[in-house]
Amino acid sequence: MIEGILFDMDGVLIDSEPVILHAAMTYFERIGVTVQPEDFTPFIGAGDKRFLCGVAEKYGVSIDFEEARETLFSLYATYAMDRGPLPGVHRFISNARKAGLKLALATSAVRTKAEINLRAIGLAESDFDCMVTGESIKRNKPNPDIYQLASLSMGMPPQECLVIEDAVNGIIAGKQAGCSVCAVATTFPVSELVDAGADYVLSSLDAFEDFNSIEELEMILSSSKGIDDRVVYGANKILEAPSPLRGGRALLDLAIEQAYEARKNAYTPYSKYKVGAAVVSSATGRVYSGCNVENSSYGATICAERNAIFNAITNEGTIGISLLVVVSEDAPPAPPCALCLQVLAEFSKKDTDVHLVDVAYAEGRKGSHVVYRFEELLPHPFIFPTMRS
Ligand code: THU
Repeated sequence: MIEGILFDMDGVLIDSEPVILHAAMTYFERIGVTVQPEDFTPFIGAGDKRFLCGVAEKYGVSIDFEEARETLFSLYATYAMDRGPLPGVHRFISNARKAGLKLALATSAVRTKAEINLRAIGLAESDFDCMVTGESIKRNKPNPDIYQLASLSMGMPPQECLVIEDAVNGIIAGKQAGCSVCAVATTFPVSELVDAGADYVLSSLDAFEDFNSIEELEMILSSSKGIDDRVVYGANKILEAPSPLRGGRALLDLAIEQAYEARKNAYTPYSKYKVGAAVVSSATGRVYSGCNVENSSYGATICAERNAIFNAITNEGTIGISLLVVVSEDAPPAPPCALCLQVLAEFSKKDTDVHLVDVAYAEGRKGSHVVYRFEELLPHPFIFPTMRS
């Protein structure tokens, strides 16, 4: 049960990365070093010292960190005032309060910066039950220290805390600490947040529905229904990504899991042969599943693959399929039937991956996993003349 929320600050409450980047670029320019914005990427979320010194090291310049930080913050304080909070921050915090959750601000940034940020977004230290800043910890994220300290300072075990993070290092820190982690895709691509281990991914806090209680919060987190389109569901739930295959293994695992779960609902009183399928929409990266549904008039039977496709179309309208998974008990698994392939041809591309797995493989045991490109399965599908490209 989640009892507390641990907020990272930069990139979660305030879109400060462009501000600190602007300030840091101006600092380096002032000391005569031309740096690139990408130079800072590996150090996002790892504290101000790494942020400045990491880039200085890359260019082989030695800087006086204390002095550099002073310049950085005076520039930062000026630029930050133009930034409000990220969308949804105040609403989410007030929902969390209403729900009786304890709130902590846990940032590897120094207190000065945290205070500038809070001022810029219209919040105060008193809005949180606890505030942990970079000075209180020796080891920065991705080490778990800050989240351990924040949760313990609130008197609750990390397992009862939900971390809200935008950075890969922070997600790793939160997971290492034993917390659940909800990532917001403000700074990093969704696929990287998922790969870092985020349990849930949102496009922003604004995408979070209102909640009045901890139960409602948990329902929002665990349910794939009722959240609007801007929401990106958790790595173990539904995932939205600009390019789904960039989710790599994580997305494939997700599709396998959903196909496996759908298979459990297969209605097969006649054949007793259960099949589950999942397709990934190339527009949204969402996963839709289906099982086979038999009928005493045998010809009315519909295969799992087609039910998954119909489910996708019902939810999204016309779709493109970037990935198909079929789970059956066959080893090696049989490819989709010709009717399913013909329907798939309508929505697939030549290079759409078709993963055929057996139940053992889906359960993480030694089993069968065969991958085809769609065109290998149906090299000459019928495509309506006006639809041919
Ligand atoms: N089946 C599928 O669900 N997908 C296929 O591609 C082939 C067959 C189902 C239909 C029927 O319920 C059972 O397997 C036996 O044909």
